[in-house]
Amino acid sequence: MSNICVVGTGYVGLVTGVCFADLGNQVFCLDVNPDRVEKLSQGIMPIYEPGLNEIVLRNVNAGRLRFTMSYDEALEDAEFAFIAVGTPSGADGEADLQYVRSAAEGIADAIDHPIIIINKSTVPVGTGDWVTEVVSKRRAGKPLDFKVVSNPEFLREGSAINDFMVPDRVVLGSTDQEAAKSVAHLYLSLRCPVVITDLRTAEMIKYASNAFLATRISFINEIANICEELGADVEQVAVGMGLDKRIGSAFLNAGIGWGGSCFPKDVKALAHMAVLHGTHPQLLQAVMEINRNQRRQVVYRLRKVLKSLSDKTIAILGLSFKPNTDDIREAPSLEIIHLLQNEGAIVRCYDPQAIDNARQVFSEEYQKKSVVLCSSAIEAVSGADALVLTTEWNEFKNLDFEQVKSAMRSPVIVDGRNLWNPEVMQKNGFIYYSIGRGNYNQQAQTGENGQ
Ligand SMILES: NC(=O)c1ccc[n+]([C@@H]2O[C@H](COP(=O)([O-])OP(=O)(O)OC[C@H]3O[C@@H](n4cnc5c(N)ncnc54)[C@H](O)[C@@H]3O)[C@@H](O)[C@H]2O)c1
Repeated sequence: MSNICVVGTGYVGLVTGVCFADLGNQVFCLDVNPDRVEKLSQGIMPIYEPGLNEIVLRNVNAGRLRFTMSYDEALEDAEFAFIAVGTPSGADGEADLQYVRSAAEGIADAIDHPIIIINKSTVPVGTGDWVTEVVSKRRAGKPLDFKVVSNPEFLREGSAINDFMVPDRVVLGSTDQEAAKSVAHLYLSLRCPVVITDLRTAEMIKYASNAFLATRISFINEIANICEELGADVEQVAVGMGLDKRIGSAFLNAGIGWGGSCFPKDVKALAHMAVLHGTHPQLLQAVMEINRNQRRQVVYRLRKVLKSLSDKTIAILGLSFKPNTDDIREAPSLEIIHLLQNEGAIVRCYDPQAIDNARQVFSEEYQKKSVVLCSSAIEAVSGADALVLTTEWNEFKNLDFEQVKSAMRSPVIVDGRNLWNPEVMQKNGFIYYSIGRGNYNQQAQTGENGQ
């Protein structure tokens, strides 16, 4: 059993804290956001993540998990301090390290015993060394016995607890191998491969992993666009490719592209680091450009079928960047809504979990003008000239399409996630477009859609 403090209680910090508590450790989760700490102390989850509520309550009741805003309280007995604060994009695409700095300084100020500081936030290569400097400077004259370890996090929102408890691997980087081994010990019961490297290599593993996954999605989207023109079906192409063991089937889903709190900022930050150090990240630039283009394709398709989008009503199903999360950071839906508004369209949105977060993004004034937040899919499609599926939530799989069609003004669907079966949709009388299923899209174009 160890004493752990986790600084930052967002998607990563909260999951990390509660999972370490569930493994039998004493954990303090620390955050500077009073509302967040207050809610957590009352058992109210600040984020939507399947299974989180139960595991938090179990560990709070067992006395292993506490929430606080006080660095002094959280670090009093801590042997390990994890930093899990946000690292958003700065103006130029670089990672903004202001929260990491304040977390490191907070730890430096509060502690007087030996400690291992572990960076779980996704940070540019070299940040581990920089954190060492920040803490040392802060403690000039009163040196602190501390080591810094990089421990990048690979969990996915929507399956975060399982990803933490059953990881493919744990990566640890440090200039001090003993410190890395002490952190490895915390993960011992998970029985997963542990990769121990130097600090910079561990930091790069995280960026390279996210950039590679984003690349796979942009790759299949490029293939999808070619399929579309050549009358091939990207879904079957992906199945045929994925069965090759050298390729595998994950992250080969064509659609409106990747978004969320990680891929966009991490690919940008990696490209920024590369340019800053004199290399040409051409592949990364292309990966980002293809992704932007996938959103534009939706608007292009709608414009083609509806002629003009001015004063047209478009229903958007799904706001979160993927199913099973309420996170809308850099969600494709937001970019598409923005493009539609620029064309003068009125947008009616629905999402099973993300409406509250969307309300904060779209101000009331904005909502009055052109964005209507709805409480069901049917409400969203009512009177719509077209429906765009932006997030493949389970509840959208089996909509009552007769009801959908009769609620809409015209039966146009752009399925941005290839969720529905083109034949079924065409039989239901929809003008149905999806991504890279060129054989069906060409039928929709020429009106051979069974209407
Ligand atoms: N969200 C993911 O799926 C995911 C997955 C892997 C890695 N990451 C990385 O993990 C890091 C955290 O991401 P997140 O999504 O959990 O962020 P988040 O925005 O959900 O949470 C960050 C939390 O840190 C708190 N905070 C900021 N400054 C603080 C300080 N000085 N002291 C204490 N608390 C402070 C904020 O109030 C907030 O609650 C990022 O670097 C991200 O790239 C995220």
